[in-house]
Amino acid sequence: ALERTLSIIKPDAVKKNVIGEILARFEKAGLKIVGAKMKQLTREEAEGFYAVHKERPFFKALVEFMISGPVMIQVLEGEGAVLKNRDLMGATNPKEAAAGTIRADFADSIDANAVHGSDSAENAAIEIKFFFNDSDVVSH
Ligand code: CMP
Repeated sequence: ALERTLSIIKPDAVKKNVIGEILARFEKAGLKIVGAKMKQLTREEAEGFYAVHKERPFFKALVEFMISGPVMIQVLEGEGAVLKNRDLMGATNPKEAAAGTIRADFADSIDANAVHGSDSAENAAIEIKFFFNDSDVVSH
């Protein structure tokens, strides 16, 4: 099905100046960028976005990392966009990520892992709404 998913290029990848290389991978895989913005997340935004993880031991480090510099947030659209993006990203832990995936190529650790992508169509809808108004997502 034609789906949308939320993608975040995290502060580590922005600092490495590889936004374009990562976006090119999405486009080459047939995903369209239908929404995009650069943003310095506030602590409140980072905590709210990752609220499902708030009882996890890594939550504090995750929030600190996500506010350590600007991020590039996108809405990606395409056939099976959620799974396609997850395949392109590779495993959460870059040590386990398959060769040629974004995390294998650009991530340094499970915390600084270059990208976030929604894990289901249901969560994608919630995550997109968290960052984008309907009028800031286009079709093309
Ligand atoms: P992300 O897909 O953005 O969702 C939550 C993030 O928490 C995850 O990527 C990792 O960067 C980070 N994280 C740190 N430790 C863990 C862990 N043990 N399991 C899952 N995610 C972790």
